[in-house]
Amino acid sequence: MFLEPQQSLKNLSEAVIRLSDFFIAHPDAQTPWESPYCQLAYRHYFFPLNYLRNVRVIQQGQNVGFFNGLDHSVDWGAGPGTASLALKNHMSLKSQILIEKSQQAINAFKDIYSQLSVPKVMITSDLKKINLQKNKSLLTLSYSLTEMTELPEGWDEFEALMILEPSTRDDGRKLLELRQKLIEAGYFMWAPCLHQQRCPLLLHSKTDWCHDRIHVQAPDWFKKLEQFLPFKNNTITTSYLLARKQKPAALAANQIRLIGDSMKEKGKTRQLICRGEEREFLTWMHKEIEPQTLPRGDVVTLSEDYILKSNEIRLKKPTT
Ligand SMILES: C[S@@+](CC[C@H](N)C(=O)[O-])C[C@H]1O[C@@H](n2cnc3c(N)ncnc32)[C@H](O)[C@@H]1O
Repeated sequence: MFLEPQQSLKNLSEAVIRLSDFFIAHPDAQTPWESPYCQLAYRHYFFPLNYLRNVRVIQQGQNVGFFNGLDHSVDWGAGPGTASLALKNHMSLKSQILIEKSQQAINAFKDIYSQLSVPKVMITSDLKKINLQKNKSLLTLSYSLTEMTELPEGWDEFEALMILEPSTRDDGRKLLELRQKLIEAGYFMWAPCLHQQRCPLLLHSKTDWCHDRIHVQAPDWFKKLEQFLPFKNNTITTSYLLARKQKPAALAANQIRLIGDSMKEKGKTRQLICRGEEREFLTWMHKEIEPQTLPRGDVVTLSEDYILKSNEIRLKKPTT
């Protein structure tokens, strides 16, 4: 789906490094669409990576029926239309609205917009002005909330919200705070959370934040581009929330979510998990069981064979 860039990979890599440096130095700043280097780097690097992040989140949502009954999407801070394209390629929607404040971005990405389902591009700062059946609509903000101080006016008229943010400590923890605000406003978390209680990472830690790790198989041109870059993307991460006014179906018993990478310690291997307000670890004691490494972000079923010791769920048999 993504075309191999015609520009030399050396030029492209310089643009990518420059835009990456810009995002790191100015995490809250507006994407500098007016600069040609930004458009080049975004189209061939940040757009494909963000597309993959959106696909992961959509798949997580589809696993729990999150998108059922939703007919329309509104993509706030659409840029190239990353979230909209990922949605369109994974479900059928009757209409897609893109909201983007930068005319340069709108002009630059018309070819991508043309692939969407009945797309309409708008420059507005007020969602209330959009004439739509909001009880059948999804509002998505993909890497755009980070450039704003708060959710756009009128967000709470939407049945469903899909929010992706950079998985940095700062943005990740702000998203956990937003999660609590959404619950207080009457929304239910469908993913990544398996519960509606307070987030254990916000409650028991001042530094942790929630994110999924996605393992990617990059095409050859991307691997060649990465040879010119000081950073690699064997895995990519994203922090996200899928929230609806409708309540999710009850979960099967003993579901837990991995919210940490595997940590090898003396005599044991541990992975942070989430199933409620407690900060708990799935634990493999080396003298009793071969340790497993479960993908961060995945949901697994806890077998009955474990003992609870303080904040450790010590497995007696491998989990599935
Ligand atoms: C980092 S880009 C993300 C683009 C795209 N959603 C993605 O995931 O690749 C953030 C986008 O949000 C847009 N944006 C920021 N504040 C906005 C606002 N108040 N209204 C509309 N768009 C906004 C910026 O112009 C930029 O295109």
